Amino acid sequence: MKRDTEIFDIIRRERDRQMQGIELIASENFVSDQVMEAMGSVLTNKYAEGYPGKRYYGGCQVVDESETIAINRLKELYGACWANVQPHSGAQANMAVFMACLNAGDKFLGLNLSHGGHLSHGSPVNFSGLMFKALEYNVKESDGRVDYDQLERIARQERPKLIIAGASAYSREWDYQRIRSVADEIGAIFMVDMAHPAGLIAAGLLLNPVKYAHIVTTTTHKTLRGPRGGAIMMGQDFPNPWGKTTPKGEVKMMSALLDSAVFPGVQGGPLEHVIAAKAVAFGEALTPEFKLYQQQVKVNAATMAQAFIDKGYHIISGGTDNHCMLVDLRGKFPDLTGKVAEKALVAADITTNKNMVPFDTRSAFQTSGLRFGTPAITTRGVKQDRMAYIVELIDTVLSNPESDANIAKVKEQVNKMMKQYPLFAW
Ligand SMILES: Cc1ncc(COP(=O)(O)O)c(C=O)c1O
Repeated sequence: MKRDTEIFDIIRRERDRQMQGIELIASENFVSDQVMEAMGSVLTNKYAEGYPGKRYYGGCQVVDESETIAINRLKELYGACWANVQPHSGAQANMAVFMACLNAGDKFLGLNLSHGGHLSHGSPVNFSGLMFKALEYNVKESDGRVDYDQLERIARQERPKLIIAGASAYSREWDYQRIRSVADEIGAIFMVDMAHPAGLIAAGLLLNPVKYAHIVTTTTHKTLRGPRGGAIMMGQDFPNPWGKTTPKGEVKMMSALLDSAVFPGVQGGPLEHVIAAKAVAFGEALTPEFKLYQQQVKVNAATMAQAFIDKGYHIISGGTDNHCMLVDLRGKFPDLTGKVAEKALVAADITTNKNMVPFDTRSAFQTSGLRFGTPAITTRGVKQDRMAYIVELIDTVLSNPESDANIAKVKEQVNKMMKQYPLFAW
C-alpha cells in the first residue's frame, strides 16, 4: 500500500514541535520508547470483549496474559485489592463508576469545575451533570484550598450518594480522611479521581487515596507517564449495601458492578495494545528510577512556583505540593487574559493552557489564569536550576505579548535550550 505521506508528514511535524518546545501542560508527559512500542504493536488487531479468562472472542489467550499483568502491576503499585485497566480514558473510568454506584438523577458532590474540578465531576455539559444531580464544593477565596467545612455542610444537608475528591487544577494535598468520615456518616460512596497526581502517589510522595476511598479512578498518561487511558481501583471490596442483590438473591460485589459498568456498560472491546502499554508503564513506575523522577517533578514544580512568586506573580494557594500550579495573571497583569497569554507563549514554543482561577471574573474562554506543570520537562531531564530561567522566558513574553519581535527572540532561546534535552531518537 502507498505510504500515507500526508499523515506521516503531520506526525513528523508534531514530533518536531514536541522536541523544540518547553512543554508545561500539567496533564502531559512523554512516554518511554517501550511504552510507545507496545502501543504501536500487533495487539491493536485483537478483539477481546470481556475480561481475562472470560472473553466473548476466541484467540484471547495471549492478550489475557498482558491484561492480567497490567492488573497485577497496578494493584501492586497502589496496594489495591482489585483493578480494571480497560477504561479508554479518565472520563470513561469516571462514567463507569457513576453507572455502578448511582441511578439516573441521583445526587453526587464534586469540586466546582471553575475551582479546579474536572468536567466529568458534574459539568452541565458532561454526562455527569446531564444525567445526575451535581452538587459542588469550592476552594476558599482566602487561601485557595478546598473548603472542607462547606463540603461537610453540603454533604450533611443534601446527602449525596457519591462524594468525589480529585481535580484538574489543584496544587495541594487532600484531606481524604476527613472526606471519608463525612461519607461514612451519611452512607455515601467516596471516590477519588487521582488522574493528575497518580505518578507522585505511586512514588509515595503524596497520600495514597486507595487507603481512604471506596473507589479510585485515574488516567494513565499524566504524571504516571503511561499511554493515554484510564483505570479503576478499589482498596477493598464492599458487601451490601454497596452491592446489588440479583433476582436470585446473590449479592453482586462492587468490583463486579464496576467490571460490568466498564464492559458492557460504557465500552465495547478493550484496547489491548494500550493495555499492554499500561502494563509496561506500571512496570516502569515500580522501579526506583521512577521514584527519583517523581521527586524531581515535585522539586521542579516547587522551584518554578517560587520563581513565579519572586517575579511578582500570584500563585493560587501560594505554592504547590504536587506537579502543578495555577497562576492568577491579575496579580501582575490585570488586563492580560489567559487566552492572550497562552497564544503568545505558544508562539514562543512554550506550551501551557489558559485556566479559570477560583472566583474568576472572566469566562472559561478568556480566563484570568494559566496552569503550569513540570512532568513533561522533567522527563526530558530539565532540573530545578533551569526553573528560574524558564520563568524568566515566560515573563518576557507576558510582559509584551503583542510584540512579534519579543516572541521571536524568546522562541530562539527556547529552541536553543531544548536542544540540550534530546527527546526522540527517530
Ligand atoms: C481529574 C481528571 N479526571 C479525569 C480526566 C479525564 O481524562 P481523559 O481526558 O483521559 O478522559 C482528567 C483530564 O484532564 C482529569 O484532569
